[in-house]
Amino acid sequence: ACRCPNWHQLALKLGCAGLILLVLSLTGLSVLVRILVQKPPIEKCGVSAQEIMAVPTERSAIPTCLKDWQPYRDKCLFISQIRRPWSEGLVDCSVRGGTLLLIEDQEELRYFQNFSKIEGHQFFIGLKYIQVEQIWKWTNESTLNPDLLQVTGKDKENSCAVISMTEVFSDTCSADNRWICQKKLKHV
Ligand SMILES: *[C@@H]1O[C@H](CO)[C@@H](O)[C@H](O)[C@H]1NC(C)=O
Ligand SMILES: *[C@@H]1O[C@H](CO)[C@@H](O)[C@H](O)[C@H]1NC(C)=O
Repeated sequence: ACRCPNWHQLALKLGCAGLILLVLSLTGLSVLVRILVQKPPIEKCGVSAQEIMAVPTERSAIPTCLKDWQPYRDKCLFISQIRRPWSEGLVDCSVRGGTLLLIEDQEELRYFQNFSKIEGHQFFIGLKYIQVEQIWKWTNESTLNPDLLQVTGKDKENSCAVISMTEVFSDTCSADNRWICQKKLKHV
């Protein structure tokens, strides 16, 4: 029905194709521009989203101490505010998912002596005299290394170690003292 010449139809088709290409490339371009413009906010969103997501998996991602626990090196510490016999401190730490304090090196020893000084209190730690073996043992079953510290006072039955600003000494396990619990942070 069209009496137009062939080249006219061809030009029309080419024109249409060109128009479509133009629209497509414009759309593409605007999408590109939008991505480029939005890039910084998207990255910021990503970071904060990661921080939020880190909360439920905090043990494996960003190690942090729970409320009431304070960080020290690779540990979280709980400081009791009440005074009770050693065995009650032992149970309390265990209920809280930790153990009584285990002192690993000189630096830690000095840190907790200083801590006792600042707090003005002495604390039970996870060290007890084992009468049958006649040795001081940590609650993790390791024998006390005398190069690390020596417990002053009597080595006798029912003796538990207390840390003060100047020393670690032997006290009766049934005496009332504050205590320090520890929890090890798991490394990533
Ligand atoms: C137990 O604790 C002591 C004191 O921190 C440490 O020297 C020792 O290596 C620990 N033992 C084990 C088996 O973890
Ligand atoms: C004792 O602890 C305080 C407070 O944490 C700190 O400022 C000070 O340097 C410590 N002193 C020693 C000898 O470690």
